[in-house]
Amino acid sequence: MRINKYLAESGVASRRSSEQFVLAGRVKLNGKTVTALSTEVNVENDTVLLDGKKVKPMTKHIYLMLNKPKGYITTTSDEKGRKTVMDLVTEYQRERLFPVGRLDYETEGLLLLTTDGELANRIAHPRHEIPKTYVARVEGELTRQEVETLSRGVTLDDGTVTKRCKVCLLGVENKLSRIEVVITEGKNRQVRRMFAALNRHVVFLKRMAIGELKVGGLTRGTHRPLKAFEIEYLKKL
Ligand code: URA
Repeated sequence: MRINKYLAESGVASRRSSEQFVLAGRVKLNGKTVTALSTEVNVENDTVLLDGKKVKPMTKHIYLMLNKPKGYITTTSDEKGRKTVMDLVTEYQRERLFPVGRLDYETEGLLLLTTDGELANRIAHPRHEIPKTYVARVEGELTRQEVETLSRGVTLDDGTVTKRCKVCLLGVENKLSRIEVVITEGKNRQVRRMFAALNRHVVFLKRMAIGELKVGGLTRGTHRPLKAFEIEYLKKL
């Protein structure tokens, strides 16, 4: 971007005043005084000084909601060449966008992606215990006893015990039970491992919501920017 636009967007002055600063020789780019208004700044790598003081770029963060399909891994790259969630947001490939938390390869549903590292860490941190709502389809007919056991907490394969959570049997169809599970932890593959603790096999798993953010009507594999009130909500969590 042009140097005066960079200065203006960084909030140091208006576009017009920024031009004056450049013309007056008060601006340095990577240690060299620049006076040409056509000077281009690389926001990622360049250092701009005004009167010797560093001008930080005003970062406009990106916040997206993706309805992840199964068959994609939740990383920014994969050495085995598998498809990653970044392949679903290719128009943002020049941005430093990364997924907030994880959904495993076979799991679908709500995944947030952002350039805002601070917010991402806050959402993913277990201390905040943000409820995450999943719908699972599990082989066989889940008993009331099993629902109760899951909600009280079960011992996983690594010996850890899950916290109390909400479990609701939504229905049974074609020998599959549909269950809503709301957990406030984020252990690796937690929902699948909770059912595995009862020798139940999960054949389908989708994250429906993170807190009050719902994947709702978003078509599988598509994404949308978060709305202002949704970003506000996340920031207040
Ligand atoms: N629980 C799982 O088993 N998988 C996920 O991706 C998320 C929660």
